Amino acid sequence: MKLTAYFFITVLIMETSLMLYLHRNIIDSRTEEEFNRLLANGSNHRDVLMAYYSETAIKHIVLMEKDIDREVLITDERGGIIGSSAENQKGLLKYLPSLDQMHTASDQIIQANWKDMPYVISVHPYQVDSGSGYVIMFQSTDSIQHLVSKLNMHFGLAGVTSVVALFVIYAFLSKFLTRPLIRMQEATEKISKGDFQVSLPAIGKDELGELSGSIQKLAGDLERLTAERNEFLASTAHELSTPLTYLNGYSKVAMRQGIQEAERNRYLEIIAEESERMKELVNNLLDLAKLDENSFSVSKEYFWASSFIHDLFKRVKPSFVIQKLELQLVMERDFQIHADPIRLEQILLNVLDNALKYSKEESTVTMEVYQREEKTVLVITDEGIGIPEQDLPFIFEKLYRVEKSRSRSYGGSGIGLAVVKELVDAHGGAIEVASQLGHGSVFKVTI
Ligand SMILES: Nc1ncnc2c1ncn2[C@@H]1O[C@H](COP(=O)(O)OP(=O)(O)OP(=O)(O)O)[C@@H](O)[C@H]1O
Ligand SMILES: [Mg+2]
Repeated sequence: MKLTAYFFITVLIMETSLMLYLHRNIIDSRTEEEFNRLLANGSNHRDVLMAYYSETAIKHIVLMEKDIDREVLITDERGGIIGSSAENQKGLLKYLPSLDQMHTASDQIIQANWKDMPYVISVHPYQVDSGSGYVIMFQSTDSIQHLVSKLNMHFGLAGVTSVVALFVIYAFLSKFLTRPLIRMQEATEKISKGDFQVSLPAIGKDELGELSGSIQKLAGDLERLTAERNEFLASTAHELSTPLTYLNGYSKVAMRQGIQEAERNRYLEIIAEESERMKELVNNLLDLAKLDENSFSVSKEYFWASSFIHDLFKRVKPSFVIQKLELQLVMERDFQIHADPIRLEQILLNVLDNALKYSKEESTVTMEVYQREEKTVLVITDEGIGIPEQDLPFIFEKLYRVEKSRSRSYGGSGIGLAVVKELVDAHGGAIEVASQLGHGSVFKVTI
């Protein structure tokens, strides 16, 4: 509305001043034309009079001005009328200028006020042997006034028409331009209230179209994130409450007087196991909070690949053995890695944990470590269940899981790879994944 009003007023001002200028110019040039013609006619008569001064000449001049909207008066030097073309001479005499006014040396318009007076008057002095006098021309202002009133009408009509046309065009344009904007505003308001079901029409490839597409995408992303987060919180709360119940129950039993030492130890073992599981869950929650704040920090240092990787292997091997999985290492020569060892370990543990979780029994997981162009490359290949192609772009998003049900058996929380990606990014590195459903996955980390 505001934009339309500004445009409207600006164009209106421009148009009005242009029209006024044009109107004035047309009238000025028309009146000037009339004045010049009057002067030319008057001086013509005067020239004739001076050349052939006689009764006949006077009659002749008077006759020439009969029956047109112009009159001529010829006076002697004292103002006495010696010739007149006017039928209503009295009416004309009312406007006859005084002798003083007529006393000029050259031809002159002495009454130019065409707006209020019925005549424009010019005076042309003459001089002959027998004396002198004036030829006075009266031009009726009717024609000019008629022209002006006609001009006024045309200009008025043009003005009104263009104002209406302008208004219609602007109203249409502003509707056309602002409708998608208003829709987007409504959509974002809906999103901010937590309703992500917005549908914005596709409106082409321009800036508005792009904005509309972004809002639509934002709604989709927010919807997925919110749903995943809620589900995650619900399942985490549930999963926390289970070990807590165990802890509570078994600690009470363990505290009982008179139970066997062996039995007490078993209860304490269960308590230790369950608290371990709780620790893991809480760590996951902490990672999630860090992901939100982008607050993973890395401090790089140089260390030898061989000792680092072998150390790591020793620790993860048992869980692979338990799952009846073969874990292989391919590393041809030792080299120095430039990274944060604790973070790199976190990266590898997460990827290896996935390989372990998503592999079938009796299959092999291979880790290949080598250096290429000053970069450390770590490739972890499994022969597990693989990842569907449509899920591949999302697996690095937090809380994203291919298997949507959060069953404890297939249970991850979808944080591992998000943390991995964040840590790899913090190192300035890259992570790639290739996978074939049912055949296995390959994760390649370059740092
Ligand atoms: N090696 C793999 N084979 C098959 N699917 C995988 C593999 N690695 C990851 N995925 C899929 O990607 C999803 C995201 O992995 P991510 O490590 O982020 O979460 P998670 O393993 O489910 O939970 P978390 O690691 O937080 O315990 C997994 O849920 C799984 O569906
Ligand atoms: Mg994982």
